[in-house]
Amino acid sequence: MKVDVLLGLQWGDEGKGKVVDVLTPNYDIVTRFQGGPNAGHTLEFNGEKYVLRSIPSGIFQGGKINIIGNGVVLDPLLFMTEAKELAQSGHDLTQRLYVSKKAHLILPTHRLLDKANEAAKGKAKIGTTGKGIGPTYTDKVSRNGLRVGDILDNFQAKYAAAKQRHLETISSLNLLAVAKGGEPVSTDGLEELEASWMEGIEYLKQFKFIDSEHVINNYIKAGKSVLCEGAQGSLLDVDFGSYPFVTSSNTICAGACTGLGVAPNKIGEVFGIFKAYCTRVGSGPFPTELFDETGAKIRAIGHEYGAVTGRERRCGWIDLVALRYTIMLNGVTQLIMMKSDVLDGFETVKACTAYKVNGELTREFPFSIEEGIEPQYVEMKGWNTDLSKCKSEDEFPQEFKDYIAFLEKELETPITILSVGPDRDQTILRKRG
Ligand code: GDP
Ligand code: IMO
Ligand code: MG
Repeated sequence: MKVDVLLGLQWGDEGKGKVVDVLTPNYDIVTRFQGGPNAGHTLEFNGEKYVLRSIPSGIFQGGKINIIGNGVVLDPLLFMTEAKELAQSGHDLTQRLYVSKKAHLILPTHRLLDKANEAAKGKAKIGTTGKGIGPTYTDKVSRNGLRVGDILDNFQAKYAAAKQRHLETISSLNLLAVAKGGEPVSTDGLEELEASWMEGIEYLKQFKFIDSEHVINNYIKAGKSVLCEGAQGSLLDVDFGSYPFVTSSNTICAGACTGLGVAPNKIGEVFGIFKAYCTRVGSGPFPTELFDETGAKIRAIGHEYGAVTGRERRCGWIDLVALRYTIMLNGVTQLIMMKSDVLDGFETVKACTAYKVNGELTREFPFSIEEGIEPQYVEMKGWNTDLSKCKSEDEFPQEFKDYIAFLEKELETPITILSVGPDRDQTILRKRG
């Protein structure tokens, strides 16, 4: 049995949560393998709406087992809030949500460090979600982190030592921030935050802590099927994204191997998900960004505001140079196109097929996309039809069919699922072969 992976091909918020929920009935186990509560995965069905942050999106369909893998960073306080809200809506997860003992813990001081790092960068700040993601992964790589398994062994002493180290770093970052004319980060309120966080630690203990690499490999051996849910997007990958304006984990398919302990030869289908246009939250380069009323129109129709921070998402046309790159990095076998309905009312739609870099045309994603990139567009006739009501691809207008065919040709990969609205039911599985 193989492990399938679903991940974002752009800068996040492609609609991963919605499609993981749609695909869950085909699987026995759903897992998260990287990222943390910087994610906000939205699901809508039966008139209800949920936004998941650390909990996999496979919890709503048919009592499946969900696993938070070793590659994830977990904030027990935010986890408690999320799990309690779900329990109140009738979704008790204590018996079917497992947590890897090797997942790293986000401490209250990691959040402060995140803010202090940003302040010390001044104008060069990343625009992080402020959830302590970077500092937690930094502690992991510098071999200072605390893991879920540590909760069971002399935890208070380990916690106190980590906190002390963090407070010293925050003091020195504050000096840097002030030197740049910025605000120092205050530690006021840390004790209350700590008290709630410790409550979160106690709450977490109701869930099964597992050696997830063994558990998942045993499931695979027993013929069970696993779906891995990516967070963020490939253009935010720490190695291949628009560095340094990236997140701190490997968001690409290889991250599922390290983030779960699954060998590369166990990976089966790789579902690459993208919007019919492009968005980005936070700072960093975005070659096809639209600063005009077209960008504002996409934002308004697509409700492009962050699920976690409420920040405005920057909007632009679809970037096929970037998509070809992320399809290559991930070994995508099937594409999923989201939010096509947002472009319903446009006379024409554009797609960037190449970049002009210092006067030279290229179809390959360059080392830096910071400056001097002129996107080259192909303009196509819009479909001017309400796609959100379509139930099958036979109902698609010809212009939309042409757009799909154009994308498949450019991307050399089949588009097998199309989403035409936020609801679970507004999903069209295409006929294959
Ligand atoms: P994720 O982080 O990749 O799971 O995506 P988000 O949940 O952050 O952002 C996707 C947003 O688009 C959510 O508000 C979804 O409800 C919404 N959405 C998903 N698919 C569609 C679609 O096909 N059409 C429209 N109009 N909205 C969609
Ligand atoms: P989902 O899973 C969109 C962005 C932040 C910032 C950068 C680094 O919902 O697609 P971080 O807090 O990770 O250190 O921030 O990454 N970012 C996301 N953008 N969707 C996400 O998750 C994101 N998670 C982080 O805005 O630019
Ligand atoms: Mg999101």
